Amino acid sequence: MLTDSPYLISLQDVEVSYATNGGRHVILNNIGLNVSPGEFLSVVGSTGCGKSTLLRLILGAQLPTRGQVVVAGQPVRRVNRDCGIVFQKYSLFPHRTVLENVAFGPLLERTTICQQVMYTPTYRRIRRQSLEAARAYLNRIGLKPDDGVKYPYQLSGGMQQRVAIAQALLMQPQVLLMDEPFGALDHNTRLEMQELILEQWQAYGMTMVFITHDLEEACYVGTRVVGLSQHWTDDDNTPGVGATVVTDVPTPGGHPKPMEIRATTEFTTLLEHVRQSVLTADKP
Ligand SMILES: Nc1ncnc2c1ncn2[C@@H]1O[C@H](COP(=O)(O)OP(=O)(O)OP(=O)(O)O)[C@@H](O)[C@H]1O
Ligand SMILES: [Mg+2]
Repeated sequence: MLTDSPYLISLQDVEVSYATNGGRHVILNNIGLNVSPGEFLSVVGSTGCGKSTLLRLILGAQLPTRGQVVVAGQPVRRVNRDCGIVFQKYSLFPHRTVLENVAFGPLLERTTICQQVMYTPTYRRIRRQSLEAARAYLNRIGLKPDDGVKYPYQLSGGMQQRVAIAQALLMQPQVLLMDEPFGALDHNTRLEMQELILEQWQAYGMTMVFITHDLEEACYVGTRVVGLSQHWTDDDNTPGVGATVVTDVPTPGGHPKPMEIRATTEFTTLLEHVRQSVLTADKP
């Protein structure tokens, strides 16, 4: 156990593989990754290389076939309450209002199933408090009080993602995991959301693990960018050796960066380096 480790997240020699007919399909291979408290780690890689799998390992929703994942000094064995997660889509309950969606986590955590089913006075009191806390969060993520009574289908994609972020933040996670959270948004909304998440990251001092297909987004929001290789399926379709970390670089420009950094040579050189490493990585 790494109780003395300076890292908040640590993956050591991690492998994830699945049994196939007569063999094993290796997805992640020999992943070694350490993340310090307060880092904003962007993870990029081709589709299917294992980015979401990596996130599930940190969350504790999946265990590695080999190696160890340690979060906050504890080996991860089950879903970790200290990790919040935001997905690309479908994070919200469609039949609950915005406020109910945001308040759901604390309410579930602070009440028993019996209190919920019986609708006891304690449950009602905690529900009122949770809704109040949720209302305060709406403002912080740029939603109006009126938005609280709307249902997810009445919101734009960007607003829905704001609610999903508030839902995760209200649980005050040490680590916020984001799996392509802005992938479904149009370009301008995406830029707004990048600024929003940087503000929240600064305000709450969280550690972020942020997956994206967009290399420019990765280099802009992250303090550090990690690229995974493809899993190198062979030409005859026999499974390859699994994805591993092929690049791990800090980003220039301090943090949060000015928008204008995207036009600098330093930034475009980094972008090109990450692109080359991830998309054209040769078989080992
Ligand atoms: N239960 C499973 N059994 C077998 N293979 C699986 C299973 N779950 C995932 N995989 C395989 O693991 C690989 C990695 O999946 P993962 O979802 O982590 O990729 P990803 O990098 O997030 O892809 P994308 O960019 O498309 O979201 C894929 O090839 C997928 O088919
Ligand atoms: Mg994925």
